Amino acid sequence: MEHAKQYNKNAIRLESRALRMLLTTLRAKGTTQQAFVAAADRLCSILAEEALALLPDVLDNAPIMTPCGPTTGMICPPDGDVVVVDIVRSGGILQEAVRRVCPGAGTAKILVQRDEETALPSLLYSKLPPGIGEKNVVLCDPMLATGGSAMMALGVLRQAGVRDERVVFANVVSCPEGLRRLASEAPDVKIVTCAVDAGLNDQKFIVPGLGDFGDRYFGTF
Ligand code: PRP
Ligand code: URA
Repeated sequence: MEHAKQYNKNAIRLESRALRMLLTTLRAKGTTQQAFVAAADRLCSILAEEALALLPDVLDNAPIMTPCGPTTGMICPPDGDVVVVDIVRSGGILQEAVRRVCPGAGTAKILVQRDEETALPSLLYSKLPPGIGEKNVVLCDPMLATGGSAMMALGVLRQAGVRDERVVFANVVSCPEGLRRLASEAPDVKIVTCAVDAGLNDQKFIVPGLGDFGDRYFGTF
C-alpha cells in the first residue's frame, strides 16, 4: 500500500487492523449489498472521528480536569462551528456518519455528477448554509479518483468564501492521480483517507479499488 504523503504533503492515510478488515469487505466483489452497507457505515464512523480531529479549530493541549486531577487533551470545535458537505450521492453516506457524531453541525449539498464515458464532472446543484466561510468544513466523498469532482466541489466552497485551509476532505479510497491533483490545485486542503491504491484504469476507476461505491451501497447496478 502506498503512502499518502509522497503524493500530497497534506494527506494522511489511516492505518488500523479494523480499517483493513472493513476495507476488505468493501473491496471484495462477492460482498452482498447488505454487507457492503454495514461495512461502509462502520468504516465511515471511524473516518468521521478522524476527520473531525483534523479540523482547524480543534484545541490541542487544552487544559482539562479529570475526576482525579488536571491534565491536557484535544477538544473538537462545537457542533455549530462545523459544516459537513456532501458531494452527492456517495458523499451523503459519509456525511451522515459525521452527523451522528456531530448532530448540531450544519449541512451542505453539492451535486457533482461524473460522466460515465469521459469521467469529467458536471455541477448540477448546490445548497450551502449561510456563514460557511467562517466554519470548520468537512468535505465528504468516499472516492478520490481523478480529483475532478473534489475540485469542482472546492470551487463551489471557495465561491462561498471558504478558505482551503479550513477544509478537511474525508475519503475512503484515494489514488496517486487524485492526491497529486489536489496537491497542485488545492495544496492547503487537508485530506484523510483509508487507502492509497495503485492508480486508475482506462475508465478512470481506481484499481484495485472497490468498484462504484454509490452503486454498491445503493444497489443501483
Ligand atoms: C463518484 C465518487 C466521486 C467521484 C470520484 O461519484 O463518489 O464523487 O466519482 O471520481 P473523480 O475523482 O474522478 O471525480 P459519481 O459521480 O459516480 O456519483 P455517485 O456518488 O452517485 O456514485
Ligand atoms: N467513483 C467510484 O465510485 N469508484 C471509482 O473507482 C472511481 C470513481
